[in-house]
Amino acid sequence: MKRSTRSAGAIALSAAMLLCSACGASEESTGSSVAVQSSTSEQITTGAAAQPLTSEAASADVMTMNVGGSSFSVALEDNETVTALKELLPANLDMSELNGNEKYCYLDTELPSAPEKVGSIAAGDVMLYGDNCLVVFYKSFKTSYSYTRIGHIDDNAELEKALGSGGAAVSFSLNENEDTQESDVLVAYFSRTGNTGKIAEYLIELTGADSYVINAAVPYSDDDIKYQDSGCRANKEQNDKSARPEIAEPIASIDSYDTILLGYPIWWGEEPRIIDTFLESYDFSDKTVIPFCTSASSGISASEANIKALVPIGEQPGGRRFAASAKKEDVSEWLDLLGVKKKITEYTAQDLRALSDFLLGKPVGAGLAGKQYDLDGDGAWTAFDLCLMRELVKAPKSAGAEEI
Ligand SMILES: Cc1cc2nc3c(=O)[nH]c(=O)nc-3n(C[C@H](O)[C@H](O)[C@H](O)COP(=O)(O)O)c2cc1C
Repeated sequence: MKRSTRSAGAIALSAAMLLCSACGASEESTGSSVAVQSSTSEQITTGAAAQPLTSEAASADVMTMNVGGSSFSVALEDNETVTALKELLPANLDMSELNGNEKYCYLDTELPSAPEKVGSIAAGDVMLYGDNCLVVFYKSFKTSYSYTRIGHIDDNAELEKALGSGGAAVSFSLNENEDTQESDVLVAYFSRTGNTGKIAEYLIELTGADSYVINAAVPYSDDDIKYQDSGCRANKEQNDKSARPEIAEPIASIDSYDTILLGYPIWWGEEPRIIDTFLESYDFSDKTVIPFCTSASSGISASEANIKALVPIGEQPGGRRFAASAKKEDVSEWLDLLGVKKKITEYTAQDLRALSDFLLGKPVGAGLAGKQYDLDGDGAWTAFDLCLMRELVKAPKSAGAEEI
């Protein structure tokens, strides 16, 4: 098994699976539970492993919400709810529709709340209902319900359209600050229905890469991607090799990155034309560009050939097509094959408590099963990982403790 070098002092403990279960923000309740991947930066103090709490989350007052290929800036409130929420970002949520005016998702993690009778809701409001129900409102109306304010999307003219009429795959992240660039790897991706976005989030979490979401200046509506309709926008664009849909908020520069992991869905066997817009907007001649995609069944090779032929690229190793159902382990294995460096997996204090319980032979609460706790991010637990965790939690040996 491949094992990366690690030092106890460098082990940060965080990152977990949240559960986002679909429940009504108000009196209604619908739907099933949906797994949500979130990379957190909660820090804990464990002797030698202590690290300062220097999360960039602590300073950002704007959160980015991506949905339906569109990006929205959420101006955040200054309160404890927001501080706790930031620690859960980035997060992909499958949000449910309610009452024709809001999308909501119950987080598995409860946030501090201070609900107030807000009286009226404004389109663009982002609120917390109860302790853990994140709600995005796309219509204005009067309400007798109580909420804790999280933030507001000022530029919300396209919000309703982007959220669509049913459930919506919505991702939330803190804004990238070019001054605080931490990686020479950039994950740049376009995702209209969230599948590619999920793979991208795994890549970001596993590598610690910076991220950039390629959004269309004119968002793709549900009708725009109804490929059964030969005249839909996506089909028209794919039939026109010269189509170059405009990008909303183009990234200022990619100069500081060596490697770009470029993600997209397959549209009619190829990359969406907006990927061509992206490629033609920057100089990739000294970059390594590694494509990845999701699709119903088509492979990545036609799009790889298109990308190679479109612009000069320094190096373009073979890319990878993922199914929408691909797991983090699949993505991790691909990174191993590519030789892209992965960061040490981080754990939340909650993870650590679960591990501590496990090591002490106590019943472990929900959340341990099926989760990856490998410290070197290679997708597997080893006795070494467990022993190290035992060191970290300084768990006294008890009669019930399991021997590793
Ligand atoms: C306009 C359009 C064309 C598509 N063409 C193909 C295709 O040729 N082959 C395929 O396997 N899937 C095709 N799909 C399915 C998408 O590739 C697949 O659902 C993908 O995971 C969506 O990614 P996203 O959620 O990141 O947008 C197409 C989807 C759309 C909307």
